[in-house]
Amino acid sequence: MTNFPTEKFKELKTPFYYYDMSLLEDTLSLVKKESEKYDFHVHYAIKANANDRVLEKIRSKGFGIDCVSGYEIQKALEVGFSPDGIVFAGVGKADWEIELGLKHDIYCFNVESLPELEIINELAAKNGKKARVAFRINPNVQADTHHYITTGLDENKFGISMPDLESVLDRMKELENVQFEGMHFHIGSQITDLDNFKDLCTRVNELQEWFISRQLFPKVINVGGGFGIDYDDPQNNPISDFASYFKVFKDFLKLKAGQELHFELGRSVVGQAGNVISRVLYVKEGVKTRFAIIDAGMTDLIRPALYQAKHKIESLSASSDAKKVRYDVVGPICESSDSFGKAIDLPELKRGDFVALRSAGAYGEVMVSRYNLREEPQAFYSDDF
Ligand code: LLP
Repeated sequence: MTNFPTEKFKELKTPFYYYDMSLLEDTLSLVKKESEKYDFHVHYAIKANANDRVLEKIRSKGFGIDCVSGYEIQKALEVGFSPDGIVFAGVGKADWEIELGLKHDIYCFNVESLPELEIINELAAKNGKKARVAFRINPNVQADTHHYITTGLDENKFGISMPDLESVLDRMKELENVQFEGMHFHIGSQITDLDNFKDLCTRVNELQEWFISRQLFPKVINVGGGFGIDYDDPQNNPISDFASYFKVFKDFLKLKAGQELHFELGRSVVGQAGNVISRVLYVKEGVKTRFAIIDAGMTDLIRPALYQAKHKIESLSASSDAKKVRYDVVGPICESSDSFGKAIDLPELKRGDFVALRSAGAYGEVMVSRYNLREEPQAFYSDDF
């Protein structure tokens, strides 16, 4: 549960990100405890949040890291993640990014196509290296989430499709500078129905046999990330049920002796620890609606505009027994999609009141833009108050 030091906020320029570092700590401790029960390995998906203080805490817990660009690899190294805990995915790895990974001997390249595999082999040969690779396989498993963030269906651009697998595998056997590590999957993000992960396990079990029948043993199975968080009730449900999540894989995935199971969790690790804190600028009576215009916009948190995501909006200034009024909560950006919620009942707002946009720790600060030439929001941390 996050407590907001609203009095202290009065000195600060809004909007800003506020991180509850003890919630992050508790979340990380639970992820560690539940994954270690089964000897599972967690790589944090840095794309969800690359804030230095957040990364530092995650690193200090000993997690590996999942990167999707050379810039993320550079960042991970700067913060002190060990190269042997770095995995590198992405459909469009540029040559310099592959060479950076090779130079630092990162643990594994998650390969998404045959042409990419050829280039990794070529660059590895040029640099006198052998690259560890896992095949990112598009398992064609449905994930019940927003269509912009499903990734494991035939129509998505990600991964090697099942029909192509055989030819990629045959070619790999001829390549001398790549070494097969295993299989990689990621079916989508913000998945709260654990049945989706059971379906993934079923597919992985089938594929495992397929590989083994072709004399290739996947030493590592990486099932990606995607575990969701409770956007509706972050206060009462601040940490996702990691015990049940990891248990699905324990129960449904048929791991062979000597095999490792890897995860790439982003949102569920950092999502609830971050909030956007904003001030109400104006309350405007429209013809049909009453608008609460706040100083945070889609430039600070793009998820509502981009995915129709709902982030809980809370007043931090009004007492909880104050009269409730219905608002459309909007930002200052010159776009109609710059809206955080329609018909939201909040304690009556006035100019200068603080509101929190909750659950903004994942895909929040990393997706900030400077549209309208706005300043990037600063970040503050509960530890410092
Ligand atoms: N591994 C791979 C290969 C991924 O593509 C992703 C996320 C993850 C792991 C981490 O997934 P997570 O545990 O965070 O669900 N910007 C969107 C989400 C995009 C997710 C992209 N891939 C949003 O704000 O909802």
